[in-house]
Amino acid sequence: MDANDVSGELASLHYTGAEVQARVKEIAAQIDADYEGRRLLLVGVLSGAVMIMADLSRAMKSHCEMDWMAISSYGAGTQSSGVVRILKDLNTNIEGRDVLVVEDIIDTGLTLAYLIQNLQSRKPASLEIMTMFRKPEALSSSVKVRYVGFDLPNEFVVGYGLDYAGRYRNLTDVGTLAPHVYS
Ligand code: PRP
Repeated sequence: MDANDVSGELASLHYTGAEVQARVKEIAAQIDADYEGRRLLLVGVLSGAVMIMADLSRAMKSHCEMDWMAISSYGAGTQSSGVVRILKDLNTNIEGRDVLVVEDIIDTGLTLAYLIQNLQSRKPASLEIMTMFRKPEALSSSVKVRYVGFDLPNEFVVGYGLDYAGRYRNLTDVGTLAPHVYS
């Protein structure tokens, strides 16, 4: 679905599907160049990263392998607590591997801070992060992000993997949800 299909449910549009795809292609080309001659493992964080993982990996011109983690953030409400439980671990032993974590969004950065610490303890050859979207608070996080698609305002944004109550992940455009949808 695109923004026309849910026009009454969005307060504003930030990026069209075409803009997202163009940016994904640029990042894929950068990754191709940066990892030339290396054996890259992309690690997607379920569920939001499904869209970016599928598009990023297919926009790349070189080989990559893919694996997935599912994590759950402890704590009440919609804010990350930074305490994370692994619901599904990697199938791959990442010791000595070049690993690129693929995320849909970094908000507080707490989830990723935990994840990176956890993955680093498994002694990968390299560990970098790609996120399609980044919220303002993430800028003050200690986690260093190598590839960023777009910055977003601190609003309730949905689309391209970002959900509200499990919906809108399949929206190709990216926009702020209208308050009447969630209030
Ligand atoms: C999102 C996103 C990150 C996390 C970022 O996942 O995919 O994992 O939130 O938030 P933070 O930077 O504040 O820690 P979410 O828990 O919403 O699960 P989902 O991917 O299944 O939507």
